[in-house]
Amino acid sequence: MSALELVTLKIDGVEVEVPRGTGLVETAAVAGIEIPVFCYEPRLGPPVGACRMCLVEVEGIPKLQAGCTLTAQPDMVVRTAAGSEKAAEGQNATLEFILVNHPLDCPVCDKGGECPLQDLTFRWGPGQTRMTFPKRTFDKPIPISPTIALDRERCILCYRCTRFSENVSEDGQLVARNRGSMSLITTFEDEPYRAPFSGNVIELCPVGALTSTQYRFEGRPWEIQNVPTVCGLCPVGCNISATTREGKVRRILSRNHPEVDQGWLCDKGRFAYPHLYAEDRIREPLERVRRRGFGELSWNDAIDRAEELLRGAGGRIVTALSGSETLEQAYALGKLLRQGLGAHSAVLPEATSDALDAFRAPLSAIGRAEHVVVIGEDRVADRAPIVELWIRQARRNGARVVVQSEQNLDEELERQ
Ligand code: SF4
Ligand code: SF4
Ligand code: FES
Repeated sequence: MSALELVTLKIDGVEVEVPRGTGLVETAAVAGIEIPVFCYEPRLGPPVGACRMCLVEVEGIPKLQAGCTLTAQPDMVVRTAAGSEKAAEGQNATLEFILVNHPLDCPVCDKGGECPLQDLTFRWGPGQTRMTFPKRTFDKPIPISPTIALDRERCILCYRCTRFSENVSEDGQLVARNRGSMSLITTFEDEPYRAPFSGNVIELCPVGALTSTQYRFEGRPWEIQNVPTVCGLCPVGCNISATTREGKVRRILSRNHPEVDQGWLCDKGRFAYPHLYAEDRIREPLERVRRRGFGELSWNDAIDRAEELLRGAGGRIVTALSGSETLEQAYALGKLLRQGLGAHSAVLPEATSDALDAFRAPLSAIGRAEHVVVIGEDRVADRAPIVELWIRQARRNGARVVVQSEQNLDEELERQ
């Protein structure tokens, strides 16, 4: 059977053709139909079918099925809640069940206004509650780390956070404890969640159970703007959105670039933005005036002075990059040096041989590699954090990972 064998199936009466084995959620999306989900998140590994939000009717199967666990098969006939009363009733019941203990505190919840549970309840859930008894409560918020708060009574046990911790960052620090209705999310041995990628669980959580302590009560969705940009704190250049309110950055979110970051961020990229407003940040140009002293000067004077010095060097210019420049900044600097100032220390892409094209690959290629060689003494998580997640993915796929320093792989990747 070819991996690309196409199959035809019907979803809500719409005929759709996809490669055999495509997930039903994605297949429905091709047909322009939404199958709502909470726990389903393909980046976390195989589906776990934990929440039942995705119930669909499949012809020939008497009971409703969890759509996220099914794949496209030839001649399948599927009806979603939009086209099946039975599926709509199932989803309504699922939401009513999830809300048995979930507090109706959207007006004071940080996720309110950008919460999948709130949105899906409005669309598919019951308009009124029949649960008149007291709901389960816990101490709150629980600081599971200095940057993450857990409001346990809001958790819908979708296991997205624990699957990230186990299957993606492999830190194993977030776990589910107890069973059945007593299940709860906690940290391993109640230790603080200390890991370089911990903040991703905030974005993964489909409710307001895991929230950012930095962003708590900082803004409501109708007051903010999400500005697309690129993280400049290391050479990876993860795609991000900066949430601003009243002209100030209040939060950093991921913006999935499948070839760069796969929608994950390191904690430096996510939580270090307050440095933008640090008291001791240099905001205006300074000029060395005495051996240890600095004097202020205007931007125009500073640029004139820099130009004068650079031109005066007559092309004898050495460039030192810090490694945190984006590709675009490095290219612009190279062009300025080479074409503007005649310094030939910079190599521009147009000056390199086309033969090198065969060796250019996106970061995501690391995840598919058969062999990975890590060169250098510093930890990957310090130098280019997201690359560590690509190396871990390669290792899970069976790649052989060789670390050049004396540390073995686990010391290099596990020491956090
Ligand atoms: S804390 Fe959030 S992500 Fe984790 S299981 Fe609960 S609802 Fe899901
Ligand atoms: S790995 Fe971290 S620091 Fe580097 S670009 Fe991505 S978010 Fe920024
Ligand atoms: S999304 Fe299918 S069971 Fe949760």
